[in-house]
Amino acid sequence: MRGSVWSLFLVICCISLSQAGRDFYKILGVSKSASLHEIKKAYRKNAKELHPDKNRDDPSADAKFKDLGAAYEVLSDEEKRKKYDRCGEECVTKDESGGFGMDPFSSFFGDFGFGFHSGGRTEREVAKGGDVVMNLEATLEELYVGNFVELVRNKPVARPASGTRKCNCRQEMVTRQLGPGRFQMTQQQVCDDCPNVKLVNEERTLEFEIEVGMVEGQEYRFIGEGEPHIDGEPGDLIVKIKQAPHPRFERKGDDLYTNVTLSLQDALVGFELDILHLDGHKVHITRDKPIWPGARIRKKDEGMRNYSNNNVMGTLYITFDVQFPKEGFSDEQKQALKDILQQQSVSKVYNGLRYQQ
Ligand SMILES: *[C@@H]1O[C@H](CO)[C@@H](O)[C@H](O)[C@H]1NC(C)=O
Ligand SMILES: *[C@@H]1O[C@H](CO)[C@@H](O)[C@H](O)[C@H]1NC(C)=O
Repeated sequence: MRGSVWSLFLVICCISLSQAGRDFYKILGVSKSASLHEIKKAYRKNAKELHPDKNRDDPSADAKFKDLGAAYEVLSDEEKRKKYDRCGEECVTKDESGGFGMDPFSSFFGDFGFGFHSGGRTEREVAKGGDVVMNLEATLEELYVGNFVELVRNKPVARPASGTRKCNCRQEMVTRQLGPGRFQMTQQQVCDDCPNVKLVNEERTLEFEIEVGMVEGQEYRFIGEGEPHIDGEPGDLIVKIKQAPHPRFERKGDDLYTNVTLSLQDALVGFELDILHLDGHKVHITRDKPIWPGARIRKKDEGMRNYSNNNVMGTLYITFDVQFPKEGFSDEQKQALKDILQQQSVSKVYNGLRYQQ
């Protein structure tokens, strides 16, 4: 009795699986409500780990990697994702190759992936096109929460053309005997005949991830996306982070610095205020004692997130200045202030450039 219920359950289970096709959300490891940013992030992270070149011992690596690519292509496309959510993989139209479009891997890592394919590097010195450096301005907001930036570029790609062309040209020494005991050595250019190619511009979209905590000058390399070389490999595209100045925060390492101006009254009697942080959350500050110009409050873990470990955060330093009233006071007001403050005159003269007060 028990066994038959169990096998019935198994049958139902298998039917529903074959109808539903692959679970793309599970393959990417994201929730059903994941944003496009989360989907891109998940693809990029998984693709790095699951690439077949990195998993040569795993016979299922190819299949896993294809599943991942298919999952990304469907879920990153609004139309396809809607169809998929409605009735699964079967409803999403495939192209001739049985896939859903282009392999997304090269958009994230460049044509040569991690550079594994260029196995010839050790044999003959392979000619290489120039690297292209591109400065990319990132806001502090982007560096705090991360972002994907699409880089559309016209990439010259080699396409077959008719005829042949000279290639792999090199200088070789040729020795000629002129007579007994007399030789002449000359240098001569030798080339091979290669199938002809022409460079055609193709529009390519690259997905660059501004990763959380990246710093000024940090570089990311799209292998093989730089200048082409007709006889060899293309150079790389190097994206270099430029941190844009921010109106409220200054960054030093993982720490953030900001200034707050208070009224003299708030500085004396205390205050309560919110500082809007880079992701929109508020840092709440209260104080019920006087604070003075130049005073500094530290908020632990309200700095930037660290690049190597996003769970480690820097400190936020808040330096106050005080806006004094510009208008004078009446004699009665002056007396009232004196009665409240009850201060002696200080009038200390000191060298403030050398000695802290
Ligand atoms: C992030 O943490 C690492 C290791 O603790 C540290 O070496 C690095 O300087 C930190 N990054 C920044 C920008 O401070
Ligand atoms: C703002 O803060 C910085 C560093 O925290 C400090 O050096 C600077 O003097 C402050 N500016 C004013 C006007 O208080």
